[in-house]
Amino acid sequence: MSDLKVGLAGLGTVGAAVLRMLARQEAEIAARTGRRIKVVAVAARDRAKDRGVDLSQVAWFDDPVALAREGEIDVFVELMGGEGDPAKAAVAAALDAGRSVVTANKALLARCGVELARRAEATGAALLFEAAVAGGIPVVKTLREAMEGNRLVRVSGILNGTCNYILTRMADEKLSFGVCLSEAQRLGYAEADPTFDIDGFDTAHKLALLTSLAFGTRVDAEAIYVEGIRQLTLEDLDAADDLGYKVKLLGVAVRTDAGIEQRVHPTMVPKHWPLAQVAGVTNAVALDGDAVDLTLVGPGAGGDATASAVVADLAEMARGARPFAFGMPAELLLPAERAPMQRHEGGYYIR
Ligand code: NAP
Ligand code: HSE
Repeated sequence: MSDLKVGLAGLGTVGAAVLRMLARQEAEIAARTGRRIKVVAVAARDRAKDRGVDLSQVAWFDDPVALAREGEIDVFVELMGGEGDPAKAAVAAALDAGRSVVTANKALLARCGVELARRAEATGAALLFEAAVAGGIPVVKTLREAMEGNRLVRVSGILNGTCNYILTRMADEKLSFGVCLSEAQRLGYAEADPTFDIDGFDTAHKLALLTSLAFGTRVDAEAIYVEGIRQLTLEDLDAADDLGYKVKLLGVAVRTDAGIEQRVHPTMVPKHWPLAQVAGVTNAVALDGDAVDLTLVGPGAGGDATASAVVADLAEMARGARPFAFGMPAELLLPAERAPMQRHEGGYYIR
């Protein structure tokens, strides 16, 4: 049995969880895929930091780009985060060298996804990113592999665990916004810069990826109307509750006559709707096709949930799968459209 040799850059919340999960599941995954997944080299900033994982058998790189370009690896896993370098340079170096990449970095993909997909196609490498959208929910694979018979009409849902955690605890326990955000950071849910979460940009990054997969358009976060939850108060949530609603931060992409309308904003959801019951760090993604409507619900952030998606991508690599990043060759993706947003007077509503 041969090894799939992995170089892993980023040993934080997600990276350390991936190492633990691979150690735990090694034999099982080898039996299922026919290959052992072996992390042979790692990179992070601080070599001395105790991460609660055994690094004695792996090579250490201070420079993630050197690991991506020169490491003795088959697959490069990018779990550092950040939309620029070194994440971008490292992913590009790996793809240019014909090494497949697994990443959880939605900020990078929302900015450079099409460019990176082209690089992957040029060398026959794969670019997989199940962990970049909705944590442990396998929505990328579902869209890429299981919905081909459908013309997608709408993709929507709760795509940010931090915001849903904050809104749930504020509403249920009357805690302040700041206390809830600090707790989400302590639990490893929030981005390194939590303004990405609370101002809606992280949801927009994920929605941009889903829109591309669902509608065959180029990834373009700039085409999305974005409004976050920073301005919401306990009084707002109480008022919504009195009227029979929960407030949720939703990402919505809808096929309209004028193009694909994309928006991220707090939404009043009737309490009896299933979406209103989605609490805490849980995410939910509804895929509405002309043949099948389905909703996937699961943990949207956190080390183990996200590691589950990263490891699933590695298992796909071990099986030899080389799907197109966005489900089709990058050159066939259509320009992203900026359909005008339909705003209901007095607030937003769900269609
Ligand atoms: P994190 O805990 O902050 O870990 C980041 C890791 O990257 C750290 O080990 C850090 O090294 C390393 N790193 C950062 N900059 C580096 C540099 N310039 N050179 C080398 N190493 C560098 O982040 P995380 O929560 O694991 O998130 C990682 C990625 O997963 C991000 O793209 C994030 O958006 C995505 N993601 C996270 C979650 C989640 O729930 N946390 C869920 C889905 C996706 P040191 O440890 O030495 O400082
Ligand atoms: N910060 C993100 C969230 C991590 O809270 O959903 C998962 O992508």
